[in-house]
Amino acid sequence: MKTIFLVVLNIINGLTIYSMKKRFSVLVTRRLHRSALEELEKKCNVHLHSGEIPIAKKNLINKIKDMEGLICHPYDIVDEEVISNAENLKVISTFSVGYDHIDIKIAKSRKIKIGYTPEVLTNATAELTIGLILDILRRISEGDRIIRNKKWNQIFGAYDYTGTEISGKIIGIIGMGRIGREVAKKANGLGMKVIYHNRKSVSKRLERMLKAKYVSENVLYKNSDIISLHVPYNKNTHHLMNSKIFKKMKKTSFLINTSRGKIVNEKHLVTALKTKQIQGVGMDVYEVEPIKKDSPLLKLENVVLAPHVGSSTKETRQKMSDITAKNLILGLEGKRLLYSV
Ligand code: DGY
Repeated sequence: MKTIFLVVLNIINGLTIYSMKKRFSVLVTRRLHRSALEELEKKCNVHLHSGEIPIAKKNLINKIKDMEGLICHPYDIVDEEVISNAENLKVISTFSVGYDHIDIKIAKSRKIKIGYTPEVLTNATAELTIGLILDILRRISEGDRIIRNKKWNQIFGAYDYTGTEISGKIIGIIGMGRIGREVAKKANGLGMKVIYHNRKSVSKRLERMLKAKYVSENVLYKNSDIISLHVPYNKNTHHLMNSKIFKKMKKTSFLINTSRGKIVNEKHLVTALKTKQIQGVGMDVYEVEPIKKDSPLLKLENVVLAPHVGSSTKETRQKMSDITAKNLILGLEGKRLLYSV
């Protein structure tokens, strides 16, 4: 009897130690949805950063030291210095589709798995793109400012406050990945004509479905009424939109950027806007985020600014939280991630 009791006790002890051992140490740099945190807490000791956002690099380096998992966001720069400080790190799960803030090469060389959240944010980002197009062409935010500044009576004339009609305009999509395709679909619905440029053209079937025509970069710059950027940020796309390109664009054209800020040379953009080389811009992303308080963009009327909210709908952010947590747990358990880079 005593032997059985001791055996059972040993098993229980063993299980307890086993399950204690199985709890992973993870750092979460920003609050996620409750459901995602609860999922994480079932298997991990969660260290949720609660201070200043984004977490200061020094702080990140300090906190990541003993962690096996990291949940990060696009503002957290996970570079070589950070990664080399995290000897136990096995998985980085980013709350984003973009992963240009992570040094992928270094992480992969350390066999660290990287999770991200594509697909679920495609629609939300495409919706915001369309929102920015409608806003800048029809001058919605500008009108809002006019009303709030009590200047409505100054725009009574028939020509005083005209926008640009969307229907019939040519949208040039740069990057025909998931988000670019969704923008093309929605643009069709608004009566726009779609041309696009991509490293490779998409299949003829897809082109027919999207009513989209593949063109060279130059043809796209010259013919588009609206240019919308949907490429990832990397050394090839750094300052892709610069003064040379703005000079090629129609003087009546608009630029929309919901991808990454550094794809556009902001200094050149401001000049192009001030000198009326292009007519306007709708932006969700910036070279520096949050945008600098003295950015000249803040003083221009032909600019619509959104605070990097492409994926920010209740529906999408919930899904992103859940996937981010799931990716991390799966990776830590040695399983295949839902979405891995
Ligand atoms: C992304 O997921 O990369 C978007 O920019 C939202 O942060």
